[in-house]
Amino acid sequence: MCEDFAQQLAAKARGAGFAVTVGSLDLAIAGGGGSGGLPTTGAVAVLTSTYNGMPPDNAAAFSKWLGAAAPGSQAGVRYAVFGVGNSQWAATFQAFPKKVDGLLTAAGAAALLPLSSVDVDQAGVTDAFDDWSDSLVAAALSAFGVRPRARGRAAAGRRRGVGPRLDGGAPIVSAADVAAVPAAAAEPRSRTKIEPVAPGATPEVDVVIGNGHDLEADAVHALTAAAAKVLGASTTTGAFPLKVLESRQLLPADSGRATAHVELELPEGMTYSAGDHLEILPANCPALVEAALQLLGLEPDTPFLWTAGSRDGAARGFAAGAGLKLPARLGELMPGLRILTPASVLLGYLCDLSAVPSRKLVTQLAEACPCPPEAAALRRLASEEGYSAGVSGPKLTLVELLTRFRSVPTSLPELVSALPRLAPRYYSISSSPLADPRRCSVTVGLVSFTTPTGRPHRGASSGLIHSQPVGRHLLGTVRCLQSTFKLPKDPTTPIIMIGPGTGLAPMCGFMQERAALLQGGAQLGPALLFFGCRSAGEDYIYRDTLEGHLAAGVITGLHVAFSRDGPSKVYVQGQAEAGLVES
Ligand SMILES: Cc1cc2nc3c(=O)[nH]c(=O)nc-3n(C[C@H](O)[C@H](O)[C@H](O)COP(=O)(O)OP(=O)(O)OC[C@H]3O[C@@H](n4cnc5c(N)ncnc54)[C@H](O)[C@@H]3O)c2cc1C
Ligand SMILES: Cc1cc2nc3c(=O)[nH]c(=O)nc-3n(C[C@H](O)[C@H](O)[C@H](O)COP(=O)(O)O)c2cc1C
Repeated sequence: MCEDFAQQLAAKARGAGFAVTVGSLDLAIAGGGGSGGLPTTGAVAVLTSTYNGMPPDNAAAFSKWLGAAAPGSQAGVRYAVFGVGNSQWAATFQAFPKKVDGLLTAAGAAALLPLSSVDVDQAGVTDAFDDWSDSLVAAALSAFGVRPRARGRAAAGRRRGVGPRLDGGAPIVSAADVAAVPAAAAEPRSRTKIEPVAPGATPEVDVVIGNGHDLEADAVHALTAAAAKVLGASTTTGAFPLKVLESRQLLPADSGRATAHVELELPEGMTYSAGDHLEILPANCPALVEAALQLLGLEPDTPFLWTAGSRDGAARGFAAGAGLKLPARLGELMPGLRILTPASVLLGYLCDLSAVPSRKLVTQLAEACPCPPEAAALRRLASEEGYSAGVSGPKLTLVELLTRFRSVPTSLPELVSALPRLAPRYYSISSSPLADPRRCSVTVGLVSFTTPTGRPHRGASSGLIHSQPVGRHLLGTVRCLQSTFKLPKDPTTPIIMIGPGTGLAPMCGFMQERAALLQGGAQLGPALLFFGCRSAGEDYIYRDTLEGHLAAGVITGLHVAFSRDGPSKVYVQGQAEAGLVES
């Protein structure tokens, strides 16, 4: 999300006449900052999140560097921090953005704006970001004494293909989890571009990607790998094709719910440890894609030419400037890669079709609407009450909105650029590499519900995982998410594991690890497992495996809480209290 926001801020600042460079915080330090620090020309915008109280993966070196920065060492740097966090992580909510803001001030940098943040667990995130980015551009213009570039002039510049320009000699630097490198060090910028392909035309392309829901139909493994690299460009580490080796349902067919155990083959060189996560690239559910195609009047196989943007190219540029060696897969990402792909793939993978349009976007649609009665209705929807009653409350999608207001002109490229990128999803790995280092499993509950507008929603990621048959691929990678959620190094250390529902997944990985250690002759300490579900017949997943682990001594206690089996509801927390007293 931060990366997406950084790109939006960059576009806004460029529109106002600033030269902008976007990159990760770590690369900012390695490339432009060096040991001297952040640039003192222009401004540095930091948009960052927190993972379990720690910095994101691509900001770890920056965090260390900033922690050691001497007082006054960053004098002359002007900055603003925007934090993206989730208040469900109550103890460490916004921990890293707060830390960055505090340390920058302590090191003598001057804040252009006070620390600002959003809670992704609440509505209004996009609008809050829009307001902050407007304020930042205004603050930067005022701080550097620059007059904003007139709208018409900016548009004329774009029409002539003029690149970013610098008014008043003040580069503004922004980034995802973000970066700071003088604009002069940046590579030439290219934006993601999507263009229709005229019937019968055969444009020169680098890669052809077929239907995203049928990747194996592409047949050639290299092509699939290229698709994974490009589709995964929005993730920090890139995505790789993970072959489905096994997929089985864990709940009875008549339970009304579905949870799948899915085993995946890891590509050569990809390693993990028990407790790690798998990051999976989701795809919009087919019904959402179908509705978008209908709105746009397109067939699923209508071809488009998609030119990849320079996001990762910029990262490559920073790294090269700093003599930093990037992992080969990131270095290989090619900005400007030309991809021929059908509308269904672009709508399936590139943007989040289930996202609720921001109030600002509804206002913009009202302005663009040529039909007076529809424009008036859109303006009402853009008012505070209209928006919460008619858009955010019922979780109306942009496609649903545009389907109601047919006079608003739209196209596939516009739809894709108006919507946020489809964010990767995380799954706890439910296996251990000690059992098989090339194979890992996930345990995935299917998300399925009907929205207040009556739209049946099937989870973008869980739906894809559940429907992908053996032999096909999912796109993803292993992530450790800065977690300390690992087995103790000493296997004799006593452990207590608590995991209701699919929360059992990481415990399964830990138990598989202990089983392998036991088989190898290791001595194990006591281990209690507390699991919770509705009833023995409905959703007691992995029952045989758990009972087998108990019999073999992999665990020394198995306590299961059934919330709907007996006369009274029993939950895992109650079971844990009772079980611990017993033990
Ligand atoms: C660290 C971590 C580990 C995780 N591990 C696992 C795991 O091991 N197994 C697992 O199954 N999941 C796991 N998850 C959750 C997983 O990442 C996804 O969030 C989940 O699969 C849903 O994604 P989706 O794309 O299928 O659903 P989406 O298409 O994103 O739909 C989910 C959205 O719909 C909303 N929603 C859900 N139900 C309803 C309803 N009834 N009415 C209205 N709105 C609703 C939710 O609020 C949510 O915003 C984990 C998440 C994290 C952060
Ligand atoms: C494993 C995990 C740990 C998280 N830990 C925190 C946290 O400690 N504090 C917080 O405010 N948000 C936390 N979050 C929420 C993220 O900051 C939030 O999802 C944010 O949108 C991620 O932005 P990014 O995708 O740009 O990194 C966590 C999210 C995940 C998946």
